[in-house]
Amino acid sequence: MSSASKISKLSKNVIRTRSSVTAINPQPEAIHLKALDSAKPYSEIPGPKPLPILGNTWRLLPLIGQYDVSDVARLSSLFYKEYGKIVKLSGLIGRPDLLFIYDADEIEKVYRQEGPTPFRPSMPCLVKHGEPWRTFRTKVQKPILQLRTVKKYIEPIEIVTKDFINRMIEMKDEHDEMPKDFDNEIHKWSLECIGRVSLDVRLGCLDPNPTPNSEPQKIIDAAKYALRNIAILELRFPFWRYFPTTIWTKYVKNMDYFIEICMKYIDEAMERLKTKTVVDEKELSLVERILASEPDPKTAYILALDLILVGIDTISMAVCSILYQLATRPEEQEKLYRELKRILPDPDEPLDSKKLDQMVFLKAFVKEVFRVYSTVIGNGRTLQEDMVILGYRVPKGIQVVFPTLVTGSIEEYVSQAEQFIPERWMKRESDRYKIHPFASLPYGHGARMCLGRRFADLEIQVLLAKIFRSYKLEFHTSHLTIKSHLCMHQMEI
Ligand code: HEM
Repeated sequence: MSSASKISKLSKNVIRTRSSVTAINPQPEAIHLKALDSAKPYSEIPGPKPLPILGNTWRLLPLIGQYDVSDVARLSSLFYKEYGKIVKLSGLIGRPDLLFIYDADEIEKVYRQEGPTPFRPSMPCLVKHGEPWRTFRTKVQKPILQLRTVKKYIEPIEIVTKDFINRMIEMKDEHDEMPKDFDNEIHKWSLECIGRVSLDVRLGCLDPNPTPNSEPQKIIDAAKYALRNIAILELRFPFWRYFPTTIWTKYVKNMDYFIEICMKYIDEAMERLKTKTVVDEKELSLVERILASEPDPKTAYILALDLILVGIDTISMAVCSILYQLATRPEEQEKLYRELKRILPDPDEPLDSKKLDQMVFLKAFVKEVFRVYSTVIGNGRTLQEDMVILGYRVPKGIQVVFPTLVTGSIEEYVSQAEQFIPERWMKRESDRYKIHPFASLPYGHGARMCLGRRFADLEIQVLLAKIFRSYKLEFHTSHLTIKSHLCMHQMEI
């Protein structure tokens, strides 16, 4: 037998073997198509029924509407109670349907099927997606998520935080109470931290008595305004697409202000870099690292804009929530104090990554606050292909919402879900408590996961360590409730 015939015989065999394998185990593609064919139609998904012409947009309008769009957390929990694990909000004028999913396994499925360029159903007015997003993210991902870079910022963040605590001491009144607008003070601390990280400067937010017209206060006001009006621009009737409404005009003005400020500081950083002799790449700051690898400053501008815009309000609100929980839970506060006293016998000892690593109760407490009292209600994706979700065929283009604030409190996914137990997140207790890994995901998941998460964690850990090692916190006024806004992330290039 010639070698050629041997080969052809062999390949026939291979082909036969392959086809028989295919017959027994159909390819994933075929399974996917079959599942799509046998799924229930999209139209059968439960949810508020849209009216002819007005759709469901009227339900989100002030006065006549049934739902308060500025309180998305309440809206998503109402939907779950009323309709169950999958809820469709269709008939929203000028935007695709929103599909709320309250099933951790299905959320996992959607995340795991997302391609290399996931689409988050954020705001068409601001978002970059697809290739522009991927190119940008590839350039910035490594330095900003690299532990080596993040660790460099322990000291600067500790210095900013010490200044903030000194300011707290100055601000307290004769009864040791903080001012009523204490949340604005936390915004100042977070802006000062993120300014130090993303612009390489101290913005001066913690200077005593800044005027309402000071640059830091204007940046904070602009970030808050942008973040808190997104839901109104997006979910109510989008008049802004046809003519410049007051909210839209103010929103654009705020954005222009941001761009101006960021460009000013990045240009200054570039000038500094020109005259700096860099001996070791390790010495470079985050901004310098980006500028050194990307001569076009555009990437640095966008990164700074992203980090400042997204990094002020999200973290400030999370910190307010964490401080409130600690202040109203003296036993937990005591546990935290004991942990900190053990790791930092001298309260003035500088922090380092080794000490932060040992703060396991502190980290567990933060995770439990994120699970139960998160200020980010969840996340989402725009489907890039048809999918079967909870037995329904969901078409491409639909925006799915994962309300982690609700799924994190469902007993099926988290044992003793109604109880606040930080220890559930600690390794030594992990056998006692079940937690579905996709039930509570405060920073999202996958390729598009929060870009600032390492800095967010670091800033929170440093702040808690510095405050609770030396001070006790109490809360004396009436009970606080959380109101969550629809969140947006990222700017257009
Ligand atoms: C506790 C505070 C924070 C929470 C809970 C949070 C949560 C999130 C979530 C859920 C996403 C979407 C992730 C996904 O689609 O899978 C996100 C994206 C993002 N976050 Fe955060 N975040 C926080 C703080 C920060 C901070 C401090 C910064 C900046 C320093 C930041 C910058 C960003 C950016 C730039 C994105 C967009 C990522 C992308 O689309 O490529 N975040 N964040």
